[in-house]
Amino acid sequence: MSYSAFAPPLAPLHMIDLIRKKRDGGTLNAREIGFLVAGAANESIPHDQLAAWLMAAWIRGLSLDEARTLTLAMRDSGDKFSPARLGKTAVDKHSTGGVGDKTSFLIAPLAAACGVAVPMISGRALGHTGGTLDKLEAIPGYRTALSLQEFEAVLMKCGASIISQTKSLVPADRVLYALRDRTGTVESPGLICASILSKKLAAGLDALVLDVKTGSGAFLRKREDSEYLAALMVATAEAAGTRTVALLTDMGQPLGRAAGNWIELIESVQLLRGQRPSESEDLRELSLILAGWMIHLGGQAATPEAGYARAEKALADGSALRAFFAMVEAQGGDVSVFDNPNFHKPGATKVVAAWESGFISSMDTTALGWAVQRTGAGREKAGEPVDPHAGIDFHARRGARIEKGQSIATLYATSPALLAEPEEILHQAIVFSPAPPQVVPLVSRIFTRETAEAHLRDVVR
Ligand code: URA
Repeated sequence: MSYSAFAPPLAPLHMIDLIRKKRDGGTLNAREIGFLVAGAANESIPHDQLAAWLMAAWIRGLSLDEARTLTLAMRDSGDKFSPARLGKTAVDKHSTGGVGDKTSFLIAPLAAACGVAVPMISGRALGHTGGTLDKLEAIPGYRTALSLQEFEAVLMKCGASIISQTKSLVPADRVLYALRDRTGTVESPGLICASILSKKLAAGLDALVLDVKTGSGAFLRKREDSEYLAALMVATAEAAGTRTVALLTDMGQPLGRAAGNWIELIESVQLLRGQRPSESEDLRELSLILAGWMIHLGGQAATPEAGYARAEKALADGSALRAFFAMVEAQGGDVSVFDNPNFHKPGATKVVAAWESGFISSMDTTALGWAVQRTGAGREKAGEPVDPHAGIDFHARRGARIEKGQSIATLYATSPALLAEPEEILHQAIVFSPAPPQVVPLVSRIFTRETAEAHLRDVVR
């Protein structure tokens, strides 16, 4: 007879006890976390109790063990995707969100063109940040809601596919994320780690590259919080068996020229076509760096630098552009619109001129993200439609010397009435100064498993 036959039965769990425990600074064990996640996924725990627990977790924080256990329990809360039949190493990238962050449209085809499979499950606009799915849906016909079978078929054919989270993939996150969005509990490293990684790990990835934003447009404003999040996610994903690196990258200004939906695709395709407008150089560079890491972790280059060189070649020889168009067509999108200059038809356009002379010394990028949202490119409430043609083209980068009257941005919306508030926000958010600002590096730190674990040992939380 086994020992368990004599073990006393486990006492039933009650959500109220888990709320009290977290509220009082306690640490939940694996059984308690499993109970909470199962109750979130099957909606047997009322939303008010989940919301109370989330607020307690936001205030008290999660221990490393709690964050790891929560991540794995959420990963296992629904269906999973297996890339095994693709016959290639599956690598994805995840960004913690930004303004004008459109690297996915470059790195997915770049990595695919270099022999890596990129099963990318993306999100919609959130708060002041844009959403990859909203942008892709600006392409007539593009379907983001594929079944996992269709996802696999596109990956087999094109090497890359970008879709939305399905209903059955990580259902616990769908419930918890919506509650966090409504209860001011998004900005918590442990909860962010579990939310992001549960979805990435459920996609069965072999490797993952994390782009963790820092600066005025990042969700976590303090640099040490971004570092902690980066290290936590790397250590958690590695412990779950997925090779992972995190790059801390600058979000102190919009990435590239465009922030919106269709206009971000146009900028991306320009780069995929080998053009190099000066306002898009940071976007091109960051995309090549991230793709370089993906190609390296995907086993197609000995180092990230060699991966960068391969990615640059795929940009130059047009293979990345072909991979992007193949993916768009395989998901029902009409690629002819990329050659139709009349496709972009915002109802109203306004050029914003500099209101003084000087160097652009700083940008409140979160405010700029809200300006983009107010043009109609983002949504006020979940479920609202977005305007595919709304957004802002930024013509001046941080550090640029500008003369009063010079055009610094172009706003697009469906009607002139929607342009006044974004223009006002730009006036508040962009600061001029007589001297140039300090140069901020695009990538300021890289965490691998070793450096992430060392960082977590150093930081007591
Ligand atoms: N993106 C996610 O998927 N989850 C978070 O918690 C934050 C950003």
